Amino acid sequence: MLRPETPESLKLAQTLLRDGALVAFATETVYGLGADATKGEAVAGIYAAKGRPSFNPLIAHFADAQSAFAVVQADERAARLAAAFWPGPLTLVLRRAAYCPIASLAGAGLPTQAVRVPQVSDGFRSVLRAFPGGIVAPSANPSGKLSPTTAQHVQAGLGEAVDLIIDGGPCAAGLESAVVDLSGPQPKLLRHGALAQADIEAVMGQKLALDVDPAVKASPGQMVQHYAPSKPLFLNASTAKADQAALVFSDSNGFEQACALEVLSPSGSDVEAAARLFSALHRLDASSARAIVVGKMPVGGLGAAIVDRLRRAAAGRGE
Ligand code: TXA
Ligand code: MG
Repeated sequence: MLRPETPESLKLAQTLLRDGALVAFATETVYGLGADATKGEAVAGIYAAKGRPSFNPLIAHFADAQSAFAVVQADERAARLAAAFWPGPLTLVLRRAAYCPIASLAGAGLPTQAVRVPQVSDGFRSVLRAFPGGIVAPSANPSGKLSPTTAQHVQAGLGEAVDLIIDGGPCAAGLESAVVDLSGPQPKLLRHGALAQADIEAVMGQKLALDVDPAVKASPGQMVQHYAPSKPLFLNASTAKADQAALVFSDSNGFEQACALEVLSPSGSDVEAAARLFSALHRLDASSARAIVVGKMPVGGLGAAIVDRLRRAAAGRGE
């Protein structure tokens, strides 16, 4: 059931979540598939709806940092990052509090829990406020498929498996949150995301250890092939054939033959490119092309996150 965001649909969302149902909602990064974090059965329903092959741990979403830090052992580093970036596209992995109300399935049985305070509408923030134990939400896509940046993507991918989809419009950042592990003395970046590594390091006053190599599989949910379109996808192309669709950063020179073309940012902005990445991939995947070729992507800023998602989309299919 897809509904525009209204006071009525938000009230329904709250009731459904309270009853253990699944509600998809917009965040600044991607759409999330939400469930009451304290209800084990509701959390299990998320894995079933997504077809996740294993119980990868989920991020719990909160209305504010105070609620988030009530369920984990936050330290001074966490407080500093929260003050700088929340609400925003940053997820912190911390040790669970002694009396963490979140279902252990949501943390996949780990001693840690991922928490974040997302940018959501004022209406949905009120819904979050009604769940002080958190709303767990993975991206609202079938496991291993492209992440959704519109309510229509959620409807097309998960359909009736979601009890309610609240249409909050397209996501502004369009790329998942950066995941930082603060459970040990050395802070680690587990997933590049919509907040650049350098911006996080500037606030921490220290370098992050990188744990994002897809071959290493450090973060439990960081499977190599993830975010995959259904067509084969090839990276670092400089030309396209007539039966291929092309995805380029800002310069489409050499890709004139492509039967479909998406330019991520004509002005060359990494932020704009990140915001448009998944919706562009969704469109190219729906085109008549046999394959998708991808041109060179930017190196700095959000370039690392963009390249990370594209590498996963191409995994196992290199030419
Ligand atoms: O932007 C986002 O983060 C979106 C929106 C909906 O908030 N959510 C999202 O969730 O991308 P998901 O489940 O698709 O990705 C969560 C990532 C996975 O890579 C998972 O392995 C990692 O966070 N993660 C979650 N809990 C963890 C934990 N306790 N330790 C290490 N990694 C964890
Ligand atoms: Mg995901």
